[in-house]
Amino acid sequence: MSTVNYVKCFLRDKDVASITPTSPFGVKRVCKKIDFTRANVIVEYGPGDGVFTEYLLKKIRPSAHIVLIERNQDMFKCLTKAFRNERVHIFNDSAENVGALVNGQLPGKPDIIISGIPFSNIDHQARQDIIRQSHQVLAENGKFLAYQTFYQKDEHLFVHLKQYFRTVKSEFELLNIPPMRIYEAVK
Ligand SMILES: C[S@@+](CC[C@H](N)C(=O)[O-])C[C@H]1O[C@@H](n2cnc3c(N)ncnc32)[C@H](O)[C@@H]1O
Repeated sequence: MSTVNYVKCFLRDKDVASITPTSPFGVKRVCKKIDFTRANVIVEYGPGDGVFTEYLLKKIRPSAHIVLIERNQDMFKCLTKAFRNERVHIFNDSAENVGALVNGQLPGKPDIIISGIPFSNIDHQARQDIIRQSHQVLAENGKFLAYQTFYQKDEHLFVHLKQYFRTVKSEFELLNIPPMRIYEAVK
């Protein structure tokens, strides 16, 4: 998607939440936490114009699948044009419905969920629902990876992750606009 169209999406929809896609450095930093030799199914919440998806497609095994859940219709259209691949499943839907969207058509339960959706904008109940369902759909030892704005408060995501996941770590990546807070939660 062009920079102008990306900014238009941001101005029309507060949940786009960022004026520019994640930097290549940020993408690599988050994806370093994925064991690509083992991952069969990777789910992305809020793929935007597909900056993570493009990287993931280069790294995954030939038999692995990617599920994209994107609520913004313009971003969704952009994704359907960019990723015409039978191993990429694209839904114009909300992460709140992940339990219904991730189903038997896939080669297994998701090993990884990568999330860029802005948890600070989401109300308490919906956050709780998304994290509970994410935990439920993940395979044993599966990982939930989230990248958020660096100033995010613990109550917006960290405490919810702590409630469901076995281990939860968070770190900062300053080489992104804006800098990111990255979470790694293991089932
Ligand atoms: C900060 S952008 C991240 C875009 C892209 N992944 C990147 O790294 O550049 C957040 C994305 O999440 C999408 N989004 C926000 N809330 C969502 C929800 N509840 N379910 C699915 N997508 C959502 C927005 O439309 C937007 O594309």
